[in-house]
Amino acid sequence: MNKKIQTLTGMNDILPDEVSLWQFIEKTARDVFDCYGFSEIRVPLLEDASLFSRSIGEATEVVQKEMYTFKDKGDDLITLRPEGTAGVVRAYVQHSLQTADAITKLYYMGPMFRYERPQKGRLRQFHQIGAELFGVDSPIADAEVVILLDRFVKKLGIENYRLEINTLGTMEERKPYLKKLVTYFTGFKDKLCKDCHVRLEKNPQRIFDCKNEPCKIICQEAPLLLNELSAESSANFESFKKYLSEAEVEFTVNPHIVRGLDYYEKTAFEFVSSELGSQSAFAGGGRYNRLVKELGGPDVPAVGFALGCERLVLLLKSKLLATKNLEGVYLIPFQQDCWAECHKILLELRDEGIKSEMDYELKSVKSQMRRANKLGFKYAAFMGENEIKKGIVTLKDLQTGDQTEVDTAILASDLRKRIK
Ligand code: HAM
Repeated sequence: MNKKIQTLTGMNDILPDEVSLWQFIEKTARDVFDCYGFSEIRVPLLEDASLFSRSIGEATEVVQKEMYTFKDKGDDLITLRPEGTAGVVRAYVQHSLQTADAITKLYYMGPMFRYERPQKGRLRQFHQIGAELFGVDSPIADAEVVILLDRFVKKLGIENYRLEINTLGTMEERKPYLKKLVTYFTGFKDKLCKDCHVRLEKNPQRIFDCKNEPCKIICQEAPLLLNELSAESSANFESFKKYLSEAEVEFTVNPHIVRGLDYYEKTAFEFVSSELGSQSAFAGGGRYNRLVKELGGPDVPAVGFALGCERLVLLLKSKLLATKNLEGVYLIPFQQDCWAECHKILLELRDEGIKSEMDYELKSVKSQMRRANKLGFKYAAFMGENEIKKGIVTLKDLQTGDQTEVDTAILASDLRKRIK
């Protein structure tokens, strides 16, 4: 037998059974994002490799270990996007989007690629829905994107989650703080794990992300940036919290949030759920005021976030698959001459935009009913000798079992009323 080819490790098929859930998430996102004035942008999956090293940061794990980077046939070094922000900022700069309006609000959805060790909720090809707001450096804009995210998650029906917020200060505040942090952690160097030795060299704040118990204990007493903020930054953070409270968005301050990408400053946040296991963050984001300029654009501040769709699906799966909506009509002929008549009706119903289906050849009524139920149809329309003579179908509601006779001439309009 020929060897079967499988998907690559960490890259999943999304099968038809699950696609309805994805479509529900995407449709809800479009509705909510549109309501907040965000427009969709679609950028390429492949970009110049330097876009990501320059924006995400040379020293980050994403750039160091996780990027799918290779030379194409023209010898150009290109990368499959590991996240959406860099490409959107590149597009913003390339097309001078700031000239149309000083404030630009964009959203995107699609696959991202990171060469990570796959586990529950962590893949190599995963999907994000993200939003970026350009042109406002104010806690009111930070609050707007978090409120949008919170409302979106609630609209999906997800309830069991926590919003954690932090401020990373400005780049100026961070420099002396990082020195303090290095001095503190160096004092415990012999107790830190191997990975944290590297973090100490490259980005000591990432030690707060370590899952090792001894490192976690050392972190408890480490100096916090929250205590080193300027009066202005503290006031900004307080306003951000006030706007969230006014919108009734619950949050906790987690001074250990650092985020895995280097472009952030000031506000940072994550949405986490205990239902997800170790990959508990299903959304994250924050402010990045320097990136547009660093990528050759004007000095435009920005804030944004991205949600991980696979993690949303995990949170929604059991809940929504159980309440699948039944729809459409399955035509069930009893004999061969009825099959042709049913097939004619099938074409008419589809032309009228009514979801309908039937078997491709005459089968037993039992087998046709089984398929109608399996596919989740709301109605079955039976046609036998009696129905043909009277020019009707017997319409059965597969949920309630109610039966009624409907003239075939008005079947489409009758069904439309019922489905409504
Ligand atoms: P991020 O925290 O790296 O941020 O990713 C955002 C979300 O993508 C995560 O919370 C998680 O749900 C999901 N995610 C990340 N990696 C994986 C993976 N390997 N498998 C499954 N899901 C994953 C960003 O990407 C930033 N661009 C967010 C942003 C937008 N900040 C400002 N604007």
